[in-house]
Amino acid sequence: MSDVSTRYEFKDKPSDYASLARELTSLLTDESDLVANAANTAALIFDAVPRLNWTGFYFLKDSELLVGPFQGRPACVRIALGAGVCGQAAAQRVTIVVPDVDQFPGHIACDAASRSEIVIPLVAGATLIGVLDIDSPQLARFDDADRRGLECLAAIFVASVRGG
Ligand code: SME
Repeated sequence: MSDVSTRYEFKDKPSDYASLARELTSLLTDESDLVANAANTAALIFDAVPRLNWTGFYFLKDSELLVGPFQGRPACVRIALGAGVCGQAAAQRVTIVVPDVDQFPGHIACDAASRSEIVIPLVAGATLIGVLDIDSPQLARFDDADRRGLECLAAIFVASVRGG
């Protein structure tokens, strides 16, 4: 088991996300179960990245998004493709960064504390698996360095459940 108690200050985002990527790779090594790896990925990000109030997964099931492992308050269970930030990121297969959730048409409020959000689509080959959704109580919490770092962590998760 890797040392998951490492704390990051995130004063140098590229460097800290690179360390976190190594830690996640180590944590998911030798396991390819979707739920197990999603649970540990959500827990690691929520524990290590500052100023988050929700971190978790929605997986594509029967043409809609169904909540998976997460850290934070209980959340909306099902989200239609194209609905909310999650459904739009999934439908378009692009990362969506929302600096102010109140300015995003159709944003679905699960935790009233959320002020900004990033949703990263999870695509294995040509197949959409779901999304990684991360919320912050701080406006404009996620910049381009966060997007790159979190996309890298999402890619490590996808590779782990594909078995490579
Ligand atoms: N805000 C998301 C819904 C999921 S919660 O944030 C956990 C959305 O608009 O899709």
